Amino acid sequence: METKKYKQNITITPELQQRIDELLSHYPADKKKSALLPVLHAVQDAHDNWISVELMDKVAEILEISSIEVYEVVTFYTMYNQKPMGKYTFEFCLTSCCGIRGADDMMEYACEKLGIKPGETTPDGLFSVVGVQCLGACGYAPMMQLGDFYKEHLTAEKIDQIIDDCKAGKVILHDK
Ligand code: FES
Repeated sequence: METKKYKQNITITPELQQRIDELLSHYPADKKKSALLPVLHAVQDAHDNWISVELMDKVAEILEISSIEVYEVVTFYTMYNQKPMGKYTFEFCLTSCCGIRGADDMMEYACEKLGIKPGETTPDGLFSVVGVQCLGACGYAPMMQLGDFYKEHLTAEKIDQIIDDCKAGKVILHDK
């Protein structure tokens, strides 16, 4: 796994434990595995937007499942990052509708503006750009996901504004 190249400081803070407990409360005590996806989101959010093998092992321990069950999920879904990512990760949908409406050009524009290639992170750790598959907002193409939110009908001007807002600390990433 790519994640093996990077070191991560794993801390289950009281706040994170409280969030995990809240998520687990939605499922039967003997079916903790059902909470795997939301728990992975919670631990990723609390660990600089990525999940190392060690953190996957910790999640397995918390949910009382085998590590391989966590690895399978983290390596399958693009929403879980296996390496350190920028604070602001632009996930450009590159599938059909967005592709027809210029998603590649939008991603290229963002990369040029940030001085990175797709899959890379700016040296200051602020921005990453990645291409992903359909995010289910095809009617708003071209679009990207930023944190928990969608940025739709993208144009170069909108990307400029989003980057400026991120740099100014005005962008909210999570809805809770
Ligand atoms: Fe981009 Fe569906 S094709 S959201």
